[in-house]
Amino acid sequence: MSTILITGANRGIGLEFAKQFHAEGWKVWATSRSISNAGELIGIISYENVIELDVSQSDQVIAMENQLREQNVKLHCLINNAGVMTDRVGIDKVSQDDMVQAFKVNSASPVMLVQTLLPMLKSGCKIVNISSLMGSITDNSSGGYYSYRMSKAALNMAVKSMSQDLRRKNISVFAFHPGWVRTRMGSLIAPVSTKKSVNGMMHILDQLSMSDTGKFYNFKGEELPW
Ligand SMILES: NC(=O)c1ccc[n+]([C@@H]2O[C@H](COP(=O)([O-])OP(=O)(O)OC[C@H]3O[C@@H](n4cnc5c(N)ncnc54)[C@H](OP(=O)(O)O)[C@@H]3O)[C@@H](O)[C@H]2O)c1
Repeated sequence: MSTILITGANRGIGLEFAKQFHAEGWKVWATSRSISNAGELIGIISYENVIELDVSQSDQVIAMENQLREQNVKLHCLINNAGVMTDRVGIDKVSQDDMVQAFKVNSASPVMLVQTLLPMLKSGCKIVNISSLMGSITDNSSGGYYSYRMSKAALNMAVKSMSQDLRRKNISVFAFHPGWVRTRMGSLIAPVSTKKSVNGMMHILDQLSMSDTGKFYNFKGEELPW
């Protein structure tokens, strides 16, 4: 049975990933910042497979690694999904605190998670980082959203570096844009459902191999510009 770990899986895109991978017969480990907010997730996978994790807290990342190692978990896939949009403002309102917080969660945490979990990533493992088209420098024609755009652009750079560093371990690393999705972050007016977005990303993931490592795709399978 293939095994996956998904971060930020108590709601939104992460929850849908947990649902669909579980339905496809994967053993799903999933994290939630607070177990008390993970009711829906616990209704899908068993309580023992839900781990309380704030991805920006290194002590919690280490505790999770201990828990997984004690159970001899080996991962075929890791989805760095947890993310925040700390502001939606322009140059007049952006703050350093918002930028630092976004960078911690969206850019640094996925890298620290990979570093910590590296011994349990199997040869052939695929690491998916949920980025955003808003992190594409080429695509930015409307400005604003400094914290979010900058933190996702930094994540994209991390994807490229990790893809180089992990190539010799036969581990592939990708950045995915899930589309504009109806979640708390995406809002109710977003055109894409979590079901459609995740279904699309899972389909692409299935097709990708080591020869595609270090690339950026949307949920329709189109390669995106950095
Ligand atoms: N929705 C879109 O249109 C869209 C577009 C492009 C990219 N994305 C990306 O897709 C990913 C999922 O977003 P979503 O739309 O599903 O948003 P969401 O509904 O707001 O869910 C975000 C998830 O991330 C978790 N999270 C936030 N900060 C965390 C932290 N410090 N530690 C652990 N978990 C944390 C949240 O946990 P809590 O419930 O505890 O807050 C929640 O589970 C994000 O990386 C986002 O940037 C979304």
